[in-house]
Amino acid sequence: MTLGLDRPLATALFDSLDRQPPDALLAVIGLHRADPRPDKIDVGVGVYRDAAGATPVMRAVKAAEARLLAGQDSKSYLGAEGDQRYTDLLATVALGDTLAADPRITGIQTPGGTGALRLAAELIARSGKAPTIWIGTPTWPNHGPIFREADLTVRTHAYFDTACSDLDFDTFVAGLAEARTGDVLLLHGCCHNPTGTGFSTEQWQTLATLTAARGLIPLIDLAYQGLGRGLDEDAAGMRGMLAAVPEALVAYSCDKNFALYRERVGALWVQAATPAAAIPVRETMLVLARSLWSMPPDHGAAVVRLILEDAEFALDWRAELAEMCARINDLRAALGRAHPALAPIAGQQGLFALLPIDRDAVATLRTLHGIYMPDAGRINIAGLRVDTVAPFVAALTPHLPHC
Ligand code: LMR
Repeated sequence: MTLGLDRPLATALFDSLDRQPPDALLAVIGLHRADPRPDKIDVGVGVYRDAAGATPVMRAVKAAEARLLAGQDSKSYLGAEGDQRYTDLLATVALGDTLAADPRITGIQTPGGTGALRLAAELIARSGKAPTIWIGTPTWPNHGPIFREADLTVRTHAYFDTACSDLDFDTFVAGLAEARTGDVLLLHGCCHNPTGTGFSTEQWQTLATLTAARGLIPLIDLAYQGLGRGLDEDAAGMRGMLAAVPEALVAYSCDKNFALYRERVGALWVQAATPAAAIPVRETMLVLARSLWSMPPDHGAAVVRLILEDAEFALDWRAELAEMCARINDLRAALGRAHPALAPIAGQQGLFALLPIDRDAVATLRTLHGIYMPDAGRINIAGLRVDTVAPFVAALTPHLPHC
């Protein structure tokens, strides 16, 4: 008997795999870390930083972790839905009391907002309707890959007017001309990544009317609630949208507003057409989650649950979130005052702004000044400090358009 070891392999399993470029955003973290210059500035990856440049664990998170450590008596499995009480409490924060109690809406815990988006993608694919996913660009660079990896068709349409550094709502809507009934419209719930621009109340209403009339299904990515105008203000447009349409999806992340980044805490809610339709939706979500990650990691979600269960923790969390939001808005105002080309930044929201500069300028800022941002020119406003705004703008000025 021969084992066939003498025969050469016709093909190796992985010999058709191409080399892949490093993730453009995550690569910036490594580049900044390797730079020895003491006055380097990191406005790359989207994490909140305080006035000392640190990304601290929030006070309420520390307190809840201490309680969890003292009181948790088992780490046994929970199930594919994760910590359901966490998801239900978080629903009141994200969706508001009325929608959180709506029997057409069902949600489960996911590993971060990315897990929520990926689960949404798999659920949409499982519908068998093969809808197109419409994504306004520029957007978070991971949006397209998440849906394409689930074998969904993605089409992009313009969202932003670079010359004016502002949302181009008319072009955004016109770009949906070829969208068909049942197609999915991806929307940023607030604090648009990368532009910091967002829909006004009227624009949300227009979108809700259009979406309902055209039979489009909104998928709202809510990753920065509370870092724009406030918790309820940042969710108001999304809530209006959910009230206006029969079906919708909401992918949520606690990365930024609970500063739980690496704990991977998120949730996906799906609004089905009827309470009865929500049952198979939920069952399918659980089946998909089981094969994707079996069960989500527990720690971060348990911490969020403890915070939302305890009035004192919750109050402190809201207060610290408001402090973070105020710091970002102060930096926005300082940038807006510092140069006319940066003036729009003062009126935008959240961690990000898209600078009107090209890739060459981004490279020059990196090599000459130790200023790190992704090639697209997106900055994380919270990466600045009051004392670094002036040197940052001075380095940037030769690359900015004259206004
Ligand atoms: C970002 O956009 O910088 C963050 O959301 C981090 C990430 O995962 O890309």
